[in-house]
Amino acid sequence: MSNMRKILATSALPYANGSLHLGHLLEHIQTDVWVRYQRLRGHQAYYVCADDAHGTPIMLKAQQMGLSPEEMVAEVQKEHEADFNDFLIKFDNYHTTHCDENRELASLIYNRLNDAGHIKTKVIEQLFDPEKEMFLPDRFVKGTCPKCKAPDQYGDSCDACGATYSTTDLINPYSTVSGATPVMKESEHYFFDLPAFEGMLKEWLRSGAVQEQMANKLEEWFADGLQQWDISRDAPYFGFEIPGTTGKYFYVWLDAPIGYMGSFKNLCDKQGLDFDEFWSKDSDAEVYHFIGKDIVYFHSLFWPAMLEGAGFRKPTAVNAHGFLTVNGTKMSKSKGTFIKARTYLTHLNPEYLRYYFSAKLTSRVDDLDLNLEDFSQRVNSDLVGKFVNIASRCAGFISKQFDGKLSSTILDPALAQEFVAAGDTIAQYYEDREYGKAMREIMALADKANEFIAVEEPWVLAKAEETRARAHEVCSLGINLFKILTVYLKPVLPALTEKVESFLNIELTWDDHKVLLTDHQIEKFKPLMQRVEAKHIEAMVEESKDNLKEQAAVQETELTKDPISEEIEFDTFAKVDLRVAKIAKAEHVEGANKLLKLQLDLGGETRQVFAGIKSAYQPEDLEGKLTVMVANLKPRKMRFGMSEGMVLAAGPGGKDLWILNPEDGAQPGMKVK
Ligand code: MSP
Ligand code: ZN
Repeated sequence: MSNMRKILATSALPYANGSLHLGHLLEHIQTDVWVRYQRLRGHQAYYVCADDAHGTPIMLKAQQMGLSPEEMVAEVQKEHEADFNDFLIKFDNYHTTHCDENRELASLIYNRLNDAGHIKTKVIEQLFDPEKEMFLPDRFVKGTCPKCKAPDQYGDSCDACGATYSTTDLINPYSTVSGATPVMKESEHYFFDLPAFEGMLKEWLRSGAVQEQMANKLEEWFADGLQQWDISRDAPYFGFEIPGTTGKYFYVWLDAPIGYMGSFKNLCDKQGLDFDEFWSKDSDAEVYHFIGKDIVYFHSLFWPAMLEGAGFRKPTAVNAHGFLTVNGTKMSKSKGTFIKARTYLTHLNPEYLRYYFSAKLTSRVDDLDLNLEDFSQRVNSDLVGKFVNIASRCAGFISKQFDGKLSSTILDPALAQEFVAAGDTIAQYYEDREYGKAMREIMALADKANEFIAVEEPWVLAKAEETRARAHEVCSLGINLFKILTVYLKPVLPALTEKVESFLNIELTWDDHKVLLTDHQIEKFKPLMQRVEAKHIEAMVEESKDNLKEQAAVQETELTKDPISEEIEFDTFAKVDLRVAKIAKAEHVEGANKLLKLQLDLGGETRQVFAGIKSAYQPEDLEGKLTVMVANLKPRKMRFGMSEGMVLAAGPGGKDLWILNPEDGAQPGMKVK
């Protein structure tokens, strides 16, 4: 084929320390559909991915589990591969960043950058855990808020008062790894000279390599000025040692994108492909990265600059997608909408989700909502009610009355032609990642096919001898229209397509949408897809609530081993006036990420309190509940108004935070002893 394209596509590499969830699947389904479409067109298209194995969180998680990092990432990779496989994500290769190919490529790229003068060193000061003898990334340091004195706040901002500050400003900081007080320590770091690539990057961005929404975001980053990028971390670190150093490791984000190349190199070695044909500076292959909007900076600035500096080609395009929300909000463990890939699979058919995501995906960076109600309705109405219905209405007659053979003529060539002609538009939609538009086009055709059948009423025609032939032609055309739509849906529904292929005795490639079958033998029709049932969705949500508790218990115990504070005298304690309070009203605070505004009824007196519990509670879940408050805390003026007391809550934070509930029988205003 003369116009055969050479294509390499990737999805972002999932971290090897946790299970996949439906957000990951949005990305992989988007990529998989696109690559399957390209393969169907006859192009040489490869899809590679890998687990992202390096970094401090992975190292510490392995320690917690009593495993070596190698053992842990190997286990997680197995789980990821099984999940992807069951969602019908068809990689040409799935590898890990902790592999020889990646080590060699990372060294090669680093050495070339270094030789070209793009690596600089500088001594910097950082928080260091003297007990664990390691430098601490910000997320592993907690302490007391310098503003409101709330204890156990993270390095950069306070959950209680919303203040932002730098980690070094925390009062009584402690390492969440060991509990020790961190000290400042100097260390030499290696930096990649990103600013040197500003001109090249601006040009590359204008070449159509990124979406318009992203280009605008990137403009802001240029306006703020590009910075030297710190690419080294000190031992102990799970990663690759930097060539020519001891105890200095590549920061995980340095070798992660190189992992795309590493995985592809591994594929080349297995299949005898030419790596350089895809990655050399003068390559005529196309390279596409599918990523989430949170990692655009890495893929659209650091990565092309590294490639350029090391003499490789740059990506043809970086395709960013938005974030998945469920039922209109961020996936929530307490609501059971933080759904793991495996939990979904135990309850529902993967092709439902593949279709639903496709029906809603655009080429833009907007977030995408999985509304579980809409999900069942859309799948049932489109796939079962419209698409599969065409075949189930027509197949029976052909099997029973015409020996499974399609008619020798096409009843309505104009109608068939309309279906064929839509192929070019639909193809362009796939190419442009406008899957939603493609699905709408396909379902509009499905409506037409059903209308045609309804008007002809083959079940009536089949009854009389003189109209039997027409019934045959109607059903045969129905099957042909169904076949065309199956071609169009093949990238999205590979398993269902396989069933259709056995039913029709044919293997479908893209060009088959132009072929009409006459005098063709088909097999007995078997049901192709069940309807989504509400009880399965409910069960999935229920189970998601459960595995949250387990996971929270395992993950949080070690990392939130907060050390006990300094001792106090009994007198000091006795001064704290704890009271039962009824939450009379709870509401969101405009502009506050973490706070809820509460009206607390103390049995006669009402207090207004701002509480940093938004991550765990919806206002409507709180109203009417009893809780415990510090009633004699001096009122404080906060950004959003006065706070007259404090509500007591326990838990490591985030979703896992529980306000204290007194037993039944407590009355607002009662003293708590
Ligand atoms: N390991 C890095 C990527 C390195 S690529 C060289 C990473 N891993 S991740 O596991 O956190 O995320 C993997 C991909 O999943 C990212 O593209 C991320 O945007 C995407 N998503 C994670 N949560 C998501 C949603 N809720 N919704 C949509 N995509 C999301 O980042
Ligand atoms: Zn604070």
